[in-house]
Amino acid sequence: MPTLNASQLTTLATRVLEGAGVPPGDARVVADELAAANMVGHDSHGVMRLVQYVSMIDDGIIKPGASVEVIKDEPAYAVIDGQFNFGQLIVAEALRVLFEKARAAGTATAMIRNSNHVGRLGSYTDRAASEGFAALMAVNGPGPGGVAPFGGIDRKLGTNPICMAAPRAEGNFVLDMTTSATAEGKLRVAHQKGEPVPPGMMIDGRGNPSTDPADYYNEPCGAILPLGGPLLGHKGYGLSVMVDVFCGIVSGNGVCRTDLPPGCNGVWMYLIDIEQFVPRSQFDAMAETYVAHLKSSRRMEGVEEILLPGEIEVRRRQQREAEGVPIPDETWRQINELASRLDVSLSDIA
Ligand SMILES: NC(=O)c1ccc[n+]([C@@H]2O[C@H](COP(=O)([O-])OP(=O)(O)OC[C@H]3O[C@@H](n4cnc5c(N)ncnc54)[C@H](O)[C@@H]3O)[C@@H](O)[C@H]2O)c1
Repeated sequence: MPTLNASQLTTLATRVLEGAGVPPGDARVVADELAAANMVGHDSHGVMRLVQYVSMIDDGIIKPGASVEVIKDEPAYAVIDGQFNFGQLIVAEALRVLFEKARAAGTATAMIRNSNHVGRLGSYTDRAASEGFAALMAVNGPGPGGVAPFGGIDRKLGTNPICMAAPRAEGNFVLDMTTSATAEGKLRVAHQKGEPVPPGMMIDGRGNPSTDPADYYNEPCGAILPLGGPLLGHKGYGLSVMVDVFCGIVSGNGVCRTDLPPGCNGVWMYLIDIEQFVPRSQFDAMAETYVAHLKSSRRMEGVEEILLPGEIEVRRRQQREAEGVPIPDETWRQINELASRLDVSLSDIA
């Protein structure tokens, strides 16, 4: 199992994407996002996605080089058509537009259509928080999903994540979570490693509880449960439905579309320029008082520290900056197979 550092991850992803015909500057932006996801411990959104992305290019789903168009450009909002370029590039453009609008108007919204997979949402809201914004981002899967509605067996919803962030000197508040019991990528990672997943995350194709990720992929295919599982899944289900309403229906991008494969995204981003609502010094002081209040709680047995949303990713990044990112053998095999098919050399990387 090779262990790679951030620069090696970025280099390998850039080379593979360039080999698949992605313009060099664009390949680097996508590669940076994949490497950054690995560095914060979300391997399901890291370089293992290269295989999926290149196959989406081969199938004409991802259209490298397509121009991202702002089709409605108003003082406090924009509608953006990503023209099925990489989601990472589309969101980077949306952030650029939103920063300008929210600084001028106090708040700004972007609705994004025709986007491919945007990757890890927390990367973008974290960036916005570092620029002084409180940020909200939600993403739906307009194509076939993998999540059953509460009480149902069939796949009807995407994993429909919600992400919120706000600034903090010692690492921003970043809540970044699926509204399903797990991200599909985490089932894929467990499946590749031949490991079970915890109970309460999925059902098999007949609606029975299962911990075997193979039950999700093999016929009759199972489904992921909404966040909250068999007991409290009505809450995750409700959040997921509303993500579809905002990111799919209000955005105009669509829901339950049969013309799109899994992995496309409808996106809603909303920024608040904090300074225009409350002096930043007051925000910072109140945030630190609040953090101290949370962290002073008595802890359950075995819990070393009360963590904030986003804190575990900061810790993992520190750890992985020191120790590198272990790439599972099966992921490494698939990446190398892909690289040799594209005539890309990775021999100097690991
Ligand atoms: N683009 C897409 O279509 C898409 C779809 C689904 C998921 N995703 C991404 O998948 C990633 C994984 O999502 P997930 O729901 O599996 O994440 P997760 O369950 O690992 O973490 C969810 C949240 O809980 C926080 N957290 C974790 N442990 C904690 C603890 N002990 N104390 C306090 N807070 C804690 C994390 O900081 C995070 O904000 C996310 O980055 C998401 O953006 C993307």
